[in-house]
Amino acid sequence: MNRIRTAAVIGGTSGLGRSIAEALADAGVRVTAFGRSIPETSHANIEYQPLNLLCGDFSPLEAQLDADALIYAAGLGRIAPFDQLTDGELTALFRTNAEAFARVLHMFQPRLLEKRDFYCAVIGSIAGLISSPMFAAYGASKAAVRSLCESVNIELEAQGSPNRILNVSPGALQGTRFYGGPDEPEKTRALAEEILRRMLDREQLFIPRYEETYRDVLARYHANPEKFGLESWDYKQRSGRIGEKPRMKVGFLSGTFDLFHIGHLNLLRRAKRYCDYLIVGVHPPGSSHKNKPTFIPLEERMEIVGSIKYVDKVVVTLDEDDAMYELYPYDYLFVGSDYKGTERFNRYERELGPKGVEIIYFPYTQGTSSTQLREALSRK
Ligand code: CTP
Repeated sequence: MNRIRTAAVIGGTSGLGRSIAEALADAGVRVTAFGRSIPETSHANIEYQPLNLLCGDFSPLEAQLDADALIYAAGLGRIAPFDQLTDGELTALFRTNAEAFARVLHMFQPRLLEKRDFYCAVIGSIAGLISSPMFAAYGASKAAVRSLCESVNIELEAQGSPNRILNVSPGALQGTRFYGGPDEPEKTRALAEEILRRMLDREQLFIPRYEETYRDVLARYHANPEKFGLESWDYKQRSGRIGEKPRMKVGFLSGTFDLFHIGHLNLLRRAKRYCDYLIVGVHPPGSSHKNKPTFIPLEERMEIVGSIKYVDKVVVTLDEDDAMYELYPYDYLFVGSDYKGTERFNRYERELGPKGVEIIYFPYTQGTSSTQLREALSRK
């Protein structure tokens, strides 16, 4: 491992990515591990940094452009028939698995093209190499990863670079939350070490358990894709791994959003860092909480909020956020800190807390509010 001094591991805070980060760190590499949630354990050689790939803001990675290795291990997916995926899941899945990977790879492309050694691996999936009923969108996103790696590797070769991207395409893995059950790093450690060895050898495709299992799987797929696909459908039906609930975290917040201002934008940006899919409810005229006349009509307020890149879905909201929970069972409820301790939010804490909803209060942006703006306009 002495060819690598520093490494960035995206998705390095859980699952196989975490095992890779730990294997590197144990070998003396200084690792920066990016992920949605930071593990409670610490490691002398690992610095954990929060990163939500769905925000589209990859600036935290800029400090890594000088690293010797990049490993992309972030992924989202759920075993279910295609019709049962939500629209939000689809967006989040393609963004995390394919689009964010392409954009991160693009950021590091100058490093890959240098004559200087650079090592790169991505965790794809066997689903990207074969038809994958019940895993259709996931498989399609991983097929994009496979195709991108294959073509970029050829470009690297044609441009005289010694560097290559290793596409690791495993099937189901024991010991990761992604495949059900808890993360058990000791179960993925040997695989993590093998991935790193192959990455250092500049291999381009690694299918774990190829000899025992996947040589035959691939042969059956190529011989008769339809027959293979139908068998795979039956196998997954029996597997008991069909996910009933989207795995992604849904966040909700509501507001009036009259005379859209920087306080609103700060709130939406912070909220989206926390969740995979952000639903924003806009209060119609006559809402019981404030009941102040707005300057901007509801339709226009909704159009403005819905155009903000952090917002995945905008809806007309009911008066109460707990009533909205019945329509959109969310994981997080966000609000500015001016609501902390109010009778309304104390009640939400009591009622929604036991349902597993976390209420997050973000700092209120001082110096601006719709009321202040309305007053300034009225004075004119
Ligand atoms: N918010 C904030 N910082 C501000 C203003 C609002 O964080 N300066 C947050 C509120 O806490 C709320 C959300 O933005 O969670 C939507 O609030 P909204 O009612 O639209 O905003 P205000 O500007 O506070 O409206 P008003 O002055 O009419 O009360």
